[in-house]
Amino acid sequence: MALGRPLLITNIPLRTEVIPVGIPALDELIGGGLPPGSTVLLGGEPGVGKSTLLLQIAAALAKSHGSVLYVSGEESPRQIRVRAERLNIRGARIQVLCEQSLPAVLRAADELRPTALIVDSLQTAIARPDFAFGSVAQLREVGARLVRLAREQGALCFAAVQTTKGKALSGPKSLEHLVDLVLILRYGEGGARVLEVAKNRHGPSGGTLALQMGKEGLVPLKEVQCI
Ligand SMILES: Nc1ncnc2c1ncn2[C@@H]1O[C@H](COP(=O)(O)OP(=O)(O)OP(=O)(O)O)[C@@H](O)[C@H]1O
Ligand SMILES: [Mg+2]
Repeated sequence: MALGRPLLITNIPLRTEVIPVGIPALDELIGGGLPPGSTVLLGGEPGVGKSTLLLQIAAALAKSHGSVLYVSGEESPRQIRVRAERLNIRGARIQVLCEQSLPAVLRAADELRPTALIVDSLQTAIARPDFAFGSVAQLREVGARLVRLAREQGALCFAAVQTTKGKALSGPKSLEHLVDLVLILRYGEGGARVLEVAKNRHGPSGGTLALQMGKEGLVPLKEVQCI
């Protein structure tokens, strides 16, 4: 898309297609999928399952839509491989990049042109070394550059955001207005997890999905009960 110059509204190509993530319960929750160029924040407390869900999303997208670039600023390639093995992810076109420097991440995305870029997590990405690590200013800069990349490349961008117990996105709350979709993963009763749509620009918001964390990752509770 040509950014930075005015276009007559009726001359703008009408793209109504959405990209389904490929996890049926998640697609249903967000209204069918995501328009290309969307940015998604996945917020949650430490250990709730953000990286697990992001890797499941990476695998689902890689299966049906092409290559996915999975960037981690907090885990080693081996740790990610071990999780992928546990989740039974085999033969997926997921490129893993363990890197905190955002310019390096953006260069890799420019080269690979992935369908989806996954960043785990926003707090461990460094856009400007002169800003404090994990500061709100740093988060806003990282968020803004990811949103821009997604728009320019028509890619999907997912970023994990660590939150503090009891708070929604707290510091990162100021990022919410930048992005298209905000998902919050919380602890539910009896060890279950609840995924909530806190904001959705292109579909329904406020919906929740109950999940269970097991050896094979996060599975919708309904499916668990059916087995
Ligand atoms: N083999 C397993 N079977 C069941 N649950 C597991 C297994 N391995 C890990 N888990 C669960 O996965 C959860 C951690 O998931 P994950 O690392 O995705 O969370 P996170 O939100 O990314 O955490 P962090 O804040 O450390 O980045 C823990 O609750 C852990 O109990
Ligand atoms: Mg994690």
